[in-house]
Amino acid sequence: MHDCHREIARWLKAAGAEVTVDAAGNLRGFYGAAESSRPRLLLGSHLDTVPNAGAFDGVLGVVIAVALLEALEGRQLPFAIEVVGFSEEEGVRFGTPFIGSCALVGRLDSDLLNREDGNGISVKNAIEHFGLNLEDIPRAALSKGTLAYLEFHIEQGPVLESLGRSLGAVEAIAAQSRMSFEFLGRANHAGTTPMHLRHDAIAAAAEWILAVERTAENHPGLVATVGQIEAKPGATNVIAAEARVSLDVRHKSDDILKRAAETLVRLAREIAARRGLTLRQSVLLSQHAVAMDPFLIDQIQEAIRSTGCQPHRMTSGAGHDAMILAEKVPAAMIFLRSPGGISHDPAESVEPGDVAKALECGLHLLDQLANSSELQKRMCRA
Ligand code: GLV
Ligand code: MN
Ligand code: MN
Repeated sequence: MHDCHREIARWLKAAGAEVTVDAAGNLRGFYGAAESSRPRLLLGSHLDTVPNAGAFDGVLGVVIAVALLEALEGRQLPFAIEVVGFSEEEGVRFGTPFIGSCALVGRLDSDLLNREDGNGISVKNAIEHFGLNLEDIPRAALSKGTLAYLEFHIEQGPVLESLGRSLGAVEAIAAQSRMSFEFLGRANHAGTTPMHLRHDAIAAAAEWILAVERTAENHPGLVATVGQIEAKPGATNVIAAEARVSLDVRHKSDDILKRAAETLVRLAREIAARRGLTLRQSVLLSQHAVAMDPFLIDQIQEAIRSTGCQPHRMTSGAGHDAMILAEKVPAAMIFLRSPGGISHDPAESVEPGDVAKALECGLHLLDQLANSSELQKRMCRA
């Protein structure tokens, strides 16, 4: 990440921005307005990624933001622009996402700071190892005069491609819950223990995983994923004593998600009890659905039309820093078509022509916002 920051900082500085890294490890590039002390527009996305990832999830949005500054060629707007390359959006290392963006909304609290990775290193330790100062976290918070947050991102799904559209305007981001389940049974000899006398943690987890899949299939719009499984002691000839599995469950309706999550927890308890196991369960993330800002959605649609493309309004099934920023400032997102609908995989890609349209859309959007009377009003309030 240091190398990544160094490289992007070099591009940001060349485009005329002042660059810092805040105490949550977010890269921040500030490009001043025509007049000093004017409010700022945030443009960004995340710089972390998933294991065995593609090359575009997150970082494309940061690179587009840098390219927009470059395209301004030193021209200053009535508002300043701050480019943000967020840290720890995916939640891979600490099991909980949006750590970098939480710092901007003042929610990087002791609960988050004490979360540990698989090696027992806490977020707090990681921040210090990175060379940052925990005491500076409050200074990472959004400055008072922040107008809005805009994020370009690949769609990571098949919708735009199926419609033959290059760009989409996100109107809402689905709610998501992430949990950890531990099925605790009893280890025993694989050769001597009759089937009816076992308390097999892997078998219990497997039964539950299929129940998760069935539950999601039976609820339109619900997606539920067990993406991680870890068993102990982990030997061919030993019945598993423990199976730890993750759950990621999402729906655009908070209520449906809540009820589905309760059902999945109840099913895990029932399966564990019937098999004579105990269950430990913890919630790692409970994020409600978030609507994007209607004024910005309209502006994005207009900017997409100005590129000659037809916009498509859509809900994002993936989570994004925009859903955290939306707690404090108007936020909106522009999606770029994902070839094959593939993401979180090395085959993830994007069409160069769609990136060119996204840049064109971004420039129209900056100009529209610079001339917008609604934004002038917001600037007065900011
Ligand atoms: C972010 O990639 C997510 O899991 O939604
Ligand atoms: Mn991702
Ligand atoms: Mn992403």
